Formats: sequence, C-alpha cells, structure tokens
Amino acid sequence: MKKYCYGICLVISVTINILLSIYIYAGGQKNQEISHRLSLTWTEKAAAEAEAVAAISCSGHGRAFLEGLIYDGQPVCECYDCYGGPDCSELSPECAADADSGDPIFLEPFWMQTAADSSVLIPGWHRMSYRYDDYTLMSRELEYYIRKLHSIVGNAITQGRYMVFGVGSSQLLTAALYALSSENSSSPSNVLATIPYYPMYKGQTVLFNSENFEFGGDTNSWQSINSTNSIDVVEFVTSPNNPDGELKKSVLGRKTIYDHAYFWPHFTPIPGPSDQDLMIFTLSKLTGHAGARFGWAIIKDKDVYEKLLNYIMVADLGISKDTQLRVLKLLKVAIEEDGKPLFEYSYNTMRDRWDRLTSIFSKSTRFSIQKRHPFHCNFFNETRLPSPAYAWVKCEREEDQDCSAVLEAGKIKGRGGSSFSAKKRYTRLSLIKSQDDFEMLMLRLTELVSLENGNIETM
Ligand SMILES: Cc1ncc(COP(=O)(O)O)c(C=O)c1O
Ligand SMILES: *[C@@H]1O[C@H](CO)[C@@H](O)[C@H](O)[C@H]1NC(C)=O
Ligand SMILES: *[C@@H]1O[C@H](CO)[C@@H](O)[C@H](O)[C@H]1NC(C)=O
Ligand SMILES: *[C@@H]1O[C@H](CO)[C@@H](O)[C@H](O)[C@H]1NC(C)=O
Repeated sequence: MKKYCYGICLVISVTINILLSIYIYAGGQKNQEISHRLSLTWTEKAAAEAEAVAAISCSGHGRAFLEGLIYDGQPVCECYDCYGGPDCSELSPECAADADSGDPIFLEPFWMQTAADSSVLIPGWHRMSYRYDDYTLMSRELEYYIRKLHSIVGNAITQGRYMVFGVGSSQLLTAALYALSSENSSSPSNVLATIPYYPMYKGQTVLFNSENFEFGGDTNSWQSINSTNSIDVVEFVTSPNNPDGELKKSVLGRKTIYDHAYFWPHFTPIPGPSDQDLMIFTLSKLTGHAGARFGWAIIKDKDVYEKLLNYIMVADLGISKDTQLRVLKLLKVAIEEDGKPLFEYSYNTMRDRWDRLTSIFSKSTRFSIQKRHPFHCNFFNETRLPSPAYAWVKCEREEDQDCSAVLEAGKIKGRGGSSFSAKKRYTRLSLIKSQDDFEMLMLRLTELVSLENGNIETM
C-alpha cells in the first residue's frame, strides 16, 4: 500500500515538474518573440509570392517588386542607373554617374542580409480602422521602440518629451512651422536657415503661402536683431547639415526647429544627446527606408506638441498603419545587440566610401571637398571622423564658376550650389546611393582628376 502511494506521488511530482518546465520555457520564449505554434495556412501563398519575386536576381544590378510592371506573367527587373536589358546585365559604357539624389539605397544589402527578421506580412484585414484602440493615431509600441533606439544611440533626450509621427520628416517640417509661427498675421514669423541650406524649407514655406509666416532667407543677414526686437523668427537648424555635413547650431538662439535627419552614427560621431525644444528625425536616413515615408518629432512644450498633433490630424487623419507595422519590425532589428550590427554596417560602408573619395580628391588641385575633423563618438566610444551623406565639392579654378557644369562635362551629375542658396562654384555629390552608383562615381571622378594631372586642359 505504502509503495503504491510513493509511486503515485512520484508520478504526480514528475508530471508537475514537466508542466512547470513547459510553462517556464514557453513563457521565456514569448518574451523573445511571438511564438509560432500554428502550422502555416493562409500565409503560405503570400510568403511564396514574396520569396519568388525576391529570387529574381536581376544580375545584382536591379530589383524586381510585386507591384512593379508585369511582363509575360513575370515581374520585370527595375535596373539601377547605367544598367539595362531584361536582366540588368548590360552596362552602358558612356553612362554618366548620377550622384544627384539623396536616395539612401546604401543600406539595402543590410536589409537583405536580415530578411528573416525584418520582413513583415500584412493580412487583408490589418488595422482597417483610422485609429488604434486607445483612440490615438500612433502605435504606442512603435513609440516605445523609438525611445529605446534614441537611448541606445545616445543622440536625443526623450524622457519627459512628447512625440508626433509624420509622413516622412517632410510633413513634420511644415507641421512644426505651423506650430511655432506667429498667430498675428499683421506681423508674420520669418522663416530662416543658414546658407547652404536644404531647399525644402524655402519650398514648403513658399508653397504654404501662409499669413502667419514667410521666408526670410539666410540667418546671417538677421544677426543684428535681438530679443528686444518684436520681429518673430523661426530658424531651421540642420544638424548635421545637408549639403555640407556640419554639426550646426542655432545662429539666432530664438525659436528653432532642429532637423536631425542625419544625426546617426553612420554620418557623424555622436558627441552627446541632443536636447532641443523641437527635434525632427526620419526613418529615411536612419534605416534607408525613404519609401516608407516615416518621421517623428520630439517636443518639449505641451502646447507646441498639441499644435503639431492637430496639424497631422487635420491635414491627414494620421499616418499609414501599414507603415507603422513595418517600421516597428525594422526598428526591432535596428536595436538588436544594442544597435551594433546596423550601425557598424552603415558606418563601415560610409567610411570606406569616404576613404576612396578623399584619396581621389587628394590628387586634385582643381576640386576640393569639405574638411572633416575627428571628435569623440559616444555611441562607438571612440574618436572618429565624420562620414557625411554628401560630398560638398568646390571648383577651385577661377574660370570654373559653374561647378555643376564642369562635373557634368566629366559625366558626373551633382546638385548645384544654387539649389542650396550657395555659390555655383559648389556642387553636392550624393554618397548614399547603391554600390553600383558609387562605383560609377568613383570611375568618373578618377577620369576627371587624371585629366587634370595629365595636363590636358580641354575640360
Ligand atoms: C535635411 C533633410 N531633412 C529632411 C529630409 C526629408 O526626409 P523625409 O521626408 O524622407 O523624412 C531630407 C531628405 O533628404 C533632408 O536632407
Ligand atoms: C500684432 O502685431 C502688430 C504689429 O507688430 C501689433 O501692433 C499688434 O498688437 C499685434 N497683435 C496681437 C494680438 O498680438
Ligand atoms: C537690441 O536692439 C535694439 C533695437 O534695435 C538696440 O537698441 C539694442 O542695442 C540691441 N541690443 C543688443 C544687445 O544688441
Ligand atoms: C570607453 O573607452 C575607454 C577607453 O578606451 C574605456 O576606458 C571605457 O571603459 C569605455 N567606456 C565604455 C562605456 O565602454
């Protein structure tokens, strides 16, 4: 009888132990990621479709997409610049290097390497509502991950700050102007920036044609005004700056909008967290997903926050829920291992590109690029040189007044200085496009500089 009882007790004890172990194991897994207990049913077709289109190689010089053109039932390869043919294998020899746009394709290989973690599947009934269940237009989980990312990178203070999402940072630039500008139409705010500046600030201000603000030009011509003056100003501070990569500070010290699009370890050492009243960030230059159209503003003042939120509400009823789902998935990969895989990949790519670029320009007296100075990066805990998204090229010869035209003659497309309200003697070259684009730029620049050294003065 006693033996029998021991037997039962043992069986019960073992069973409880097994059940507890399963419970603990399953619970632990759940913290890592949503567990995959079901076998796949309705996702199989979508997954197969996504993998089939991704498997089209386009010779490594293009990409096929599900919503691209379809020919003969097959998605068509969209070739990168200078490549053509049905499989993008034909390089056109006379092709010009296009370094004009700031399309951040340099990060594409990283996202292909992390495909298993960064891909997302969107069901037909995904979040059809305008709102989330807390009656907001913003995913709280996504906001949590953005704050976590800033604390890992150490580039912005977010504790006790408000956050607003926008359709890219572009939408937030106008929303911020609306929130900060004067409500007194008889003395509209003057919108200012420091030359050379990103042309969108002027473009948006002019397009808005608002009674409350107008474009006032360069900050340097406004330096004589001071706080006793009744003129209201809103200053755009782009830090690091587009086009020259400088870590700018406010010139006037009045109302500011800090555009931190490029304030990430790929482009600049991070000296410390930014703690400005209104800071704007964008996914475009962080992960390279410009096409997803996602940005965020970090705001100190509650009234300013409410005005920005109101702008987003009235202008667009919030931003895409599909985009928010996708951004969440991308940021989860971005913060893996405290950001090391993403930022090491992005920084190394930019550093290699700058090494090759500086080596070419060091052989030239006709062209120069901006000087870079090393400083300490808190994120990498090391002193490093900046590796800006753009080269800001100056044509040094007296007669080369139109630098864009000089480069164009050498088969290089850049963006002329006048686009940034600067002298035509300057041109911006983008360094964040695909590797193919960058290789073509290196080739054309090498040719151009070697002409100079061969003393051929025909260009
Ligand atoms: C300084 C700066 N701010 C804002 C943007 C806009 O970015 P997005 O609207 O994609 O967030 C850009 C894009 O090139 C930029 O260079
Ligand atoms: C609007 O600006 C004008 C001119 O600067 C000033 O005289 C007036 O008092 C202002 N009105 C308000 C409501 O601030
Ligand atoms: C501020 O501006 C006023 C009026 O333009 C001028 O009288 C004053 O000297 C200025 N103060 C400073 C510190 O520049
Ligand atoms: C940063 O680097 C210094 C010197 O290399 C080292 O002493 C220090 O512990 C590092 N700090 C962190 C937070 O890793």
